[in-house]
Amino acid sequence: MEKFIITGGNRLNGEINISGAKNAAVAIIPAVVLSDDVCTIENIPDIKDVRLMAEILREMGASVEKLDSSTLRIDPTTIKSPVAPAELATGMRASYYLLGALLGKFNRAEVAMPGGCCFGVRPIDQHLKGFSALGATHEITDAIIKVKADKLAGAHVYLDVVSVGATMNLMLAAVKAEGQTIIENSAKEPHIVDLANFLNSMGADIRGAGTDVIKIRGVKHLGGTVYSIIPDQIEAGTYMAAVAGAGGDVLIKNVIPKHLESITAKLREMGVTVTEYDEAVRVQNDGRLNKCNIKTMPHPGFPTDMQPQITAILTMANGTSIINESVWDSRFRYIDELARMGAQISVDGRLAIVEGIDHLKGAPVKAVDLRAGAAMIIAGLIATGTTVIEDIKHIDRGYEHVVEKLSAVGADIKRVQYPDNTMSNAV
Ligand code: EPU
Repeated sequence: MEKFIITGGNRLNGEINISGAKNAAVAIIPAVVLSDDVCTIENIPDIKDVRLMAEILREMGASVEKLDSSTLRIDPTTIKSPVAPAELATGMRASYYLLGALLGKFNRAEVAMPGGCCFGVRPIDQHLKGFSALGATHEITDAIIKVKADKLAGAHVYLDVVSVGATMNLMLAAVKAEGQTIIENSAKEPHIVDLANFLNSMGADIRGAGTDVIKIRGVKHLGGTVYSIIPDQIEAGTYMAAVAGAGGDVLIKNVIPKHLESITAKLREMGVTVTEYDEAVRVQNDGRLNKCNIKTMPHPGFPTDMQPQITAILTMANGTSIINESVWDSRFRYIDELARMGAQISVDGRLAIVEGIDHLKGAPVKAVDLRAGAAMIIAGLIATGTTVIEDIKHIDRGYEHVVEKLSAVGADIKRVQYPDNTMSNAV
């Protein structure tokens, strides 16, 4: 087992390079299944979820070759079966993209019910409603979802909730369907646009991605491509929050500042200086943060995937902040961990009231999910004393080289094996 040990209090100075976007990569890799030729994907983050998705394709018969640390060459033409290996697919949420991709390719898919972070109920009714509009039927037996269609035909689909996953899955299923599909009330996240751009680079005809109406004209054939994934908005936001909380001056490189606007706006409200460049943002702070209210919303609103990290820095702000989580039912499980460090937070349903205190104090805590784990790292960086984070497997699902990136800007963070002498001395 591994843990992180963080000694807080260091200011952060220097540069951090942002990796490719996890939530784009985990959709684009399964999308390769739809191609009749080899695809090369660049700027792939080296994280657990990506390695797992690559492994799933390999198990299904694809050839997946790592050309360098961030480039995968995938030949999907040797995949002959639309059945995903169940034991691997349950390891991550995004395995549900195989449903849309395999359905689009073979008119049939069998994928185990997805895993991933636990924020309460995570239904996929909108995905299934969309598949059904395209002419597919589904059944769920022994936690395996089976979808099949005699033929897929374009349809008009209105999503009842704005869902990233359902929007992407429908794009995947519709891209080779006969005729036009219109997805209304679609999600607008940057990774939706990235998936559409990737599919278009293979020969698809998708318009409107990034707006709430996406139009897809089915094509007969998708070919090979070389494509570079967008930078990770949430990884960048996480480091922006870390610098805002810990204080310092860091240039965060390889970002699309437009994707970070809601995060930038909130950090500025807290008194942080954020300067935007073409492909970088500079974050500077040397004072106590102002209190700030946050409501999470689908893009372009404030991302739910930044909610725990922002809450972590507001624990030491000047005044009381209100956090309203409007996307997920239950995304405050990490608050108990922050409380172990002295944070004064009360939770009432989807609201958290964060009373700013002078300092957090290092403590043994757990990463209860991916972004909660990122929040614990930030809490450890801004606290006095030593914080030991357990269950870091969640963090490794989504953050590439987090220890190296933070150490390079002056953080005192180590990854240790447990049991280990360093650990027992540290706690
Ligand atoms: N929803 C439904 N029915 C559906 C699908 C979703 O009711 O069929 C509801 C959900 O319960 C939720 C809301 O719609 O309340 C939004 O869910 P969405 O489908 O957008 O989430 P997702 O696709 O499962 C992705 C990201 C999450 C991120 C959300 C929201 C991936 C692999 N995951 O999940 O990212 O929180 O969008 O932006 O892209 C993370 O990276 O840490 C993470 C959890």
